[in-house]
Amino acid sequence: MSIVKDLSLSPSGLQKIQWVRDFMPALGGIEERFRREKPFEGLTIAVSVHLEAKTANLGLVLREGGAQVYLTGCNPLSTQDDVAAGMASLGVETFGVHGVDMRGYEDLLTETLKCHPHLIVDDGGDLISLLGGRCAPYGDRLLGGCEETTTGIHRLYARERAGILPCPMMAVNDAKAKHYYDNKYGTGQSTWDAIMHTTNLMVAGKTVVVAGYGWCGKGIA
Ligand SMILES: NC(=O)c1ccc[n+]([C@@H]2O[C@H](COP(=O)([O-])OP(=O)(O)OC[C@H]3O[C@@H](n4cnc5c(N)ncnc54)[C@H](O)[C@@H]3O)[C@@H](O)[C@H]2O)c1
Repeated sequence: MSIVKDLSLSPSGLQKIQWVRDFMPALGGIEERFRREKPFEGLTIAVSVHLEAKTANLGLVLREGGAQVYLTGCNPLSTQDDVAAGMASLGVETFGVHGVDMRGYEDLLTETLKCHPHLIVDDGGDLISLLGGRCAPYGDRLLGGCEETTTGIHRLYARERAGILPCPMMAVNDAKAKHYYDNKYGTGQSTWDAIMHTTNLMVAGKTVVVAGYGWCGKGIA
C-alpha cells in the first residue's frame, strides 16, 4: 500500500509525468523494447530516485518491462508529492513524502524494501546501506542492482573493501553516457536553478568560484 502525502494531488503529478514523456525519446525507445521483450517478468525492483516526473517515467518503463516496481525518493527534499501521488494512482507502489525528517525518510525506504526486491536501483547508496544492515532480512531474493551517483559509488567501494556489499552492483555513474548528461548538464544546470531559487538573485553579473573541476564542476562552469 503506497505511502504518499495526499492522493488528491495526483492530477497535477500525472500531468507532469505525461508532459516529460514527450521529451524522453531515449527512454521511450527502451520502453518500446521492454514492451516486447519483458526482461523483468517475475522480478521485483525497488527504485530509489529523486522522485520527480522524469524518474517516475523510469519507474513506468521498468513496469512496462514486466517488473513489479516499488518506488521511493532518495532525498525527501527532492520528492514531489504530486508526482508521488500520480504514480500511486497508476498502481505503482510508491513511498515518498516531501520534507520528512531523517527518521521518516528511513521508514519510507524500509517500507519500500519490504517488497523483498530481486533488483535495486539506488541513488546515493541508502537502499544498499539498509540492505547491508537492519533491512538485511528483506534482501533474501537480491540478485543485484545499480547505483546512480558518485557518492553512492564511493560508498559501494567502501562496502566491498569491508566485505559487506550484499550483492553485485553496476556503477551507472561511471558510464560515459551518464557523466555527459546527468553530471555535466543535469547537475550543472540544476545547481544554478537551486542557487537562484534559494537566494532569490540572478546569476548575471556575479563573480563565481567553482571548487572542484570534475563532471559537475565543468557543467556548472
Ligand atoms: N544531485 C545530483 O543530482 C548529482 C548528480 C551527479 C553528481 N552529484 C554529486 O556531485 C559531486 C561531484 O560529482 P562529479 O561526478 O562531478 O565528481 P568528479 O569526481 O568528476 O569531480 C569531483 C572533483 O572534485 C575535486 N575535488 C575533490 N576534493 C576537492 C577539494 N577538497 N577541493 C577542490 N576540489 C576537490 C576532484 O579532484 C574532482 O575533480 C558528487 O558528490 C556527486 O555525488 C550529484
